[in-house]
Amino acid sequence: MTPHILEAGTAVETREYLQKKLDGIVPESELFIKAEIAYEINRLKKEKNAVILGHNYMEPALFYSIPDHVGDSLGLARIAAESHADRIVFCGVRFMAETAKILNPDRMVLLPAEVAGCSLAASITAQDVRDLKERYPGVPVVTYINTYADVKAETDVCCTSSNASDIVRKLDSDSVICLPDEFLAKNIARETGKNVIYPGSEPTGKDDMVIWDGRCEVHEKFTVDDIRNARKQFPDTVVVAHPECTPDVVQASDFSGSTTAMTKFVRESDAKRFLVLTECAMGDNIAAENPDKEMLRMCSVRCPHMNEITLEDTLRCLREDIYQIEVDEEVRLKAKGSLDRMLEMS
Ligand code: 13P
Ligand code: SF4
Repeated sequence: MTPHILEAGTAVETREYLQKKLDGIVPESELFIKAEIAYEINRLKKEKNAVILGHNYMEPALFYSIPDHVGDSLGLARIAAESHADRIVFCGVRFMAETAKILNPDRMVLLPAEVAGCSLAASITAQDVRDLKERYPGVPVVTYINTYADVKAETDVCCTSSNASDIVRKLDSDSVICLPDEFLAKNIARETGKNVIYPGSEPTGKDDMVIWDGRCEVHEKFTVDDIRNARKQFPDTVVVAHPECTPDVVQASDFSGSTTAMTKFVRESDAKRFLVLTECAMGDNIAAENPDKEMLRMCSVRCPHMNEITLEDTLRCLREDIYQIEVDEEVRLKAKGSLDRMLEMS
């Protein structure tokens, strides 16, 4: 978890900081406007005793100006669990803000854009999970944090991209149900020695991993050909891929891990050129942190949900206290159990 670097200074200091940090990444004319908004957000944040959490996929001007903490899903969930601010503003997508509310029911949790969803979270319902539990009784359910509260409520333990294999190992169960990301589950199955089976199939009774067919609409688009082409053009390219990519892409890459793990890998590597197979904005953010390294990023594939979160919307969110996240108390308590178990186990 990287504590944010920019202390709320004057509007001019904010602009100068962003100009220096994002030189060659964001046009200066754009930064002039964004710095004004960022300054106002930072002022209001103090006035309203709010904390801003920013996911690694936030666009660079936002990422480097307003969050108090930036990170991956696991890191931000931990910060949310410990927060004492009156308001938690989540610059990320709905399931992340919902997770913060589940862990912190007495705080006001705000999501700057009402429509910031996630194709994985939309791929499965609570009833789907109940049906699977009936079909495979007694098999523990591990659910990716990229799901909504009612799905988490049907789950034994949550996981994120940074602890999924560990959680499956620690469950110490021959078979598991791993939902809802087909590719993440296949990548975990390979790491943990499980046999993948699709819902409806007969269990073999040993080391089965029952999976779902949810996919991330961003990561499913990256191909092994993308990697081959980059390596052909730039033979020194080191490839980093998120585990929501297909197993073929993950295996063809040099490193796979959560968004924070990928950032750390690039920071600590001696290599000079990287292909970053994840949301394009994160490539910008890593490039800003590593001016001596080149990031090849595929910006034709964007997460439309993460891109809903803008500085303009965040300012409106703080001014008007919108959009407030609410979770039914019975659902929240059950969902909290699966999140608490994850936090204890990781
Ligand atoms: P991380 O937990 O690795 O940050 O991933 C979240 C996500 O939505 C990736 O697409
Ligand atoms: Fe969901 Fe994929 Fe967007 Fe992450 S990148 S929020 S998994 S749609």
